[in-house]
Amino acid sequence: MNQVIGASVSRKDGQAKVTGTAIYSAEHQIPDLIYGCLVTATIASGRIRAIDTREAEQASGAIAVFTHRNAPQVFNPNENISRLSESRLPLSDDRVHYAGQIIGLAVADTFERAREAAHLVRVEYEPQAPIVEANKATYVPAPQWLGEDLTYEQIDVNTGNVTTVLASAATQIEAVYTTSMELHAPMEPHAIITHWQSPDMVTIYEPTQAVLMSQRTYADLLGLPTERVRIVSTYIGGAFGCKFLPWPHSILCAAAARELNRPLKVVVSRRQMTANTGHRSETEQTLRLGALADGKLQAIEHTAKSITSPLEDFPEACTIITPAMYAAPNMRLSQELAVMNVGSPTFMRAPGECPGMWALESAMDELAWSLNIDPIQLRLINQTDQHQRKNLPFSAKYFAECLEVGAKQFGWQDRPLQVRSLTRDGKLVGLGMASTTFPGYRGSTSAKVRLLPDGTAHVMSAGNDMGTGAYTVVAMTAAETLGIAVDKIRVELGDSTLPDGGVAGGSQMTASLTPAVKLACEAVLRQAQAQSAQQASEQLKQSGRAAFEATASAAPGEELEKFAFQSWGAHFCELTVDEAIGRVQITRWVSVINAGRILNAKTAASQIRGGVIMGIGTALMEEGHFDPNTGYPVVYDLATYHYPTHADIPRIDVTFIGEPDFNFNPMGVRGIGEIGINGVSAAIANAIYHATGKRIRSLPITPDKII
Ligand code: MOS
Repeated sequence: MNQVIGASVSRKDGQAKVTGTAIYSAEHQIPDLIYGCLVTATIASGRIRAIDTREAEQASGAIAVFTHRNAPQVFNPNENISRLSESRLPLSDDRVHYAGQIIGLAVADTFERAREAAHLVRVEYEPQAPIVEANKATYVPAPQWLGEDLTYEQIDVNTGNVTTVLASAATQIEAVYTTSMELHAPMEPHAIITHWQSPDMVTIYEPTQAVLMSQRTYADLLGLPTERVRIVSTYIGGAFGCKFLPWPHSILCAAAARELNRPLKVVVSRRQMTANTGHRSETEQTLRLGALADGKLQAIEHTAKSITSPLEDFPEACTIITPAMYAAPNMRLSQELAVMNVGSPTFMRAPGECPGMWALESAMDELAWSLNIDPIQLRLINQTDQHQRKNLPFSAKYFAECLEVGAKQFGWQDRPLQVRSLTRDGKLVGLGMASTTFPGYRGSTSAKVRLLPDGTAHVMSAGNDMGTGAYTVVAMTAAETLGIAVDKIRVELGDSTLPDGGVAGGSQMTASLTPAVKLACEAVLRQAQAQSAQQASEQLKQSGRAAFEATASAAPGEELEKFAFQSWGAHFCELTVDEAIGRVQITRWVSVINAGRILNAKTAASQIRGGVIMGIGTALMEEGHFDPNTGYPVVYDLATYHYPTHADIPRIDVTFIGEPDFNFNPMGVRGIGEIGINGVSAAIANAIYHATGKRIRSLPITPDKII
């Protein structure tokens, strides 16, 4: 049997997805299904003075209209159980905190009639002046992010503190970097069907990155024992963080369906999604780097600001990454958060790290130019073997190798060292690089494996595949451990009736779930007392027994006190700039990534490419603003929100290097979902500087900033 792990295996779910047989949440055919359409606020702050639903209720096909006056019953969340994207329960009072906030739900026998009824709801507001401009907001220290302070100071007693060290440093860089608000744009919009089988038993079809966490939340809010809520999330058409926790529309749908005693579907429109299912906040960051003449950093000061809604303390945690990236005896990090009358921000691929690395990797490039040092050399002399906040050594770190391999593949050493010195077809050509990194996260999971007499095996877990390739790596892990072919493995994921599979967030599904799958397969072989799965299947056939079956769990342990787990990489970008029209075209891309053992070469490379493409969007295109008059995002669908298409993307060469990280888990794998996006926008801005001599510190780099 050839080794399966590390091979290039096409997605197990690929054919179902491209042929349309994969059923997404909104597509479940349920008899007697009715449809809900959200009514949303058209002011950004204030209260509802009057809401008239009479006309809506009499519209043809209308079944019910819910507002704050007759909100369906939802129990107050237990803070130790429920995890919500927005902690205010839907329709809980007459307050409006942001434009697009849900203020009602019209239900009818068809979607079109529900939409018509929603439009017939008359609302009278008592508006207040909203805060929708960042320069009018009041900033306060940001709360913790994943249990860590974002404001923090590290002082070297021998040299003083950041302020004095920066003042006396041989070279200093100080610059302000900004990023735009970004909208989530998964192919599958937010959608939910809730089907109450009885007054105390509900099935919820909804795309979610955290199946059992979602199950516990719904059970808490609906006042049910956990096992009376079933979550089905078989296929997800992209999530990127916005489908991590339930949103108000989801809770409203579940509660309304119970009151109506009918299966109910709510699909959030693209336009509604821009306002009420999360975005990445804009950021403003100031970086000050002080270095010796040889490039050795003496001090780093990194301050950041982001915006949240009146309903959630959600910081875009830019400063979280800095102590992992470069060694500096003095470091000061601070982050502030302001409240505006906008929808709640949420997780978006590498939340915090992505804008944080944009600023840090741009500043490092500025430092390299000012010292006349190769930017790769500057990174090599400043990399750290230890996480400076956790004071733990990194496990299986191959950052230097990423830089070296990437430089060689890309031909970095051959580039001219002057700006504006390369041209092609009348356009300026620039080359740039930046580093990338992302923490290695891992959670507790369980999986069940059943080996059958026909020589096939069935792997089951509530863990899910949000489009990343989890079905395939789970099958590969089982195939390798059992010694049978990948196509003999059936994988069932994304159903809360199966063992807890952890969460698909923080790039942790593969590192969390595959160790449990491996253990469950080993347990099956032990149970059969067989050398191979084939032998075990023979036993089943002869004995007439139906299956060997085992469930196993895997969880992180003591290693978390011994090591810091982090993945590493480098991006290299070549681009052309047409200065006359301000057009940037990326022409070549090389990414080299160190993420422990790579389980599926094909889907892993696709994850990195997807991250790079999303990063190109961040760098050059994605731009969201809140209209100061209405408080709505001025971009509102896939036509008005500019993001990359095929014509914007060159060939992206991806190479993985480094040994398996067996300190981290028995599969030796770290995550790859988010690391691809980090550093991309800096590599592009750095290449634009090389091409044009123009340092652009504000994203996205649209043509007006080039000309
Ligand atoms: Mo990710 S932003 O943790 O889905």
